[in-house]
Amino acid sequence: MSTQEAPPLLMGAGPSTVPPSVLDALGAPTIGHLDPRFLEIADRTNQLLRSVFRTANQATFAVSGTGSAGMEAMLVNFVEPDDHVVVAVCGAFGERIVQAAQRLGARVTRVDGEPGRPVDLQLLRRAIGPDVAALAVVHGETSTGVAQPLDDLGTHVHARGGLLLVDCVTSLGGYPLDVDALEIDVAFSGTQKCLNCPPGLAPMTISDRALDRMSRRRTPVPSWCFDVAAILGYWDASRRSYHHTPPVNTIYALQESLRLVCDEGLAARWRRHAAASAALLAGLDHLGLEPLVAAEDRLWPLTTVRTPRGIDEAAIRRTLLDEHGIEISAGLGDLKGEIWRIGTMGVNASLESVDAVLAALASELDAGFVSTVRSRAAQAWHAQ
Ligand SMILES: Cc1ncc(COP(=O)(O)O)c(C=O)c1O
Repeated sequence: MSTQEAPPLLMGAGPSTVPPSVLDALGAPTIGHLDPRFLEIADRTNQLLRSVFRTANQATFAVSGTGSAGMEAMLVNFVEPDDHVVVAVCGAFGERIVQAAQRLGARVTRVDGEPGRPVDLQLLRRAIGPDVAALAVVHGETSTGVAQPLDDLGTHVHARGGLLLVDCVTSLGGYPLDVDALEIDVAFSGTQKCLNCPPGLAPMTISDRALDRMSRRRTPVPSWCFDVAAILGYWDASRRSYHHTPPVNTIYALQESLRLVCDEGLAARWRRHAAASAALLAGLDHLGLEPLVAAEDRLWPLTTVRTPRGIDEAAIRRTLLDEHGIEISAGLGDLKGEIWRIGTMGVNASLESVDAVLAALASELDAGFVSTVRSRAAQAWHAQ
């Protein structure tokens, strides 16, 4: 794409649309990663991350790499060979955690949700025995659009001596999350979803309990690159030393995107994501599209609907992109061809963006009632 061309409206599963001030921050001159001016930016960015994660954890920083690097960093540091790890699986990202934990030699117990449903909390609690080392949960399952309740899982796993590890890639900044109140030990996210920052960093926060566990590991961390103790040697201002060169410009961009989140306020931002989800679903319902997930289980930043029978769903997505300038996503894995995934993340949790995607779908599905579909969406938005 040339820099002159208008960018598409990114309403898929991520990346999401990046606001102009974040792009401006990204384009600021690169300075050294040990330059005191950059270190001030890095410290401020970590402070903003604490606010957005709602935590007092000192060990809060962005892992250099995408969300997957966050998952890898979490698992290699907090899971050891032969550890008993319980994983809640309600989609492709839970599956990934199962596979990654197995590769580390953990004894994995998976607890599956019914299709399109979160994992039953009672089943999860029952799977957490006295030998548990960790419970790993995906808070916002982007492959299905399911929000996994966390309730008292933290207290429960702590009572048995384990840690609570959470993937917050699609929930951070767009769905209620309070790391300290939920007693989450390790949470990681990605920058390209509800934070509206380009991909490339994985915000992470780690409790003192988890750091203590890490200091008592039986085996060395099997990754040099993602060894948290070594990485903290750089992020911790009191003992700053070189570990690797962090992506300086992406950190500028992250600081700006977090400033936008904090200026709006988390509660207001969550309400806006709820309203966008309701508006989108009301419009999709009017178009005759069936949601995959029941109302109470929906992840506000990502809506999933079944594709209508007898249409070429890939061709419609392509036309949306080519002719309407709007990106939506296909299903993943078993759900490929079966569902569309429509993101209303950060700036796109707006009535304007919802209207745009509904109008494009109405025209491509030959529904022919663009104005009524919009008014359904507006009613649902204002009812929130
Ligand atoms: C829930 C979840 N976890 C992990 C990831 C992996 O993140 P990335 O693609 O940035 O590596 C994603 C990406 O979509 C995700 O949605």
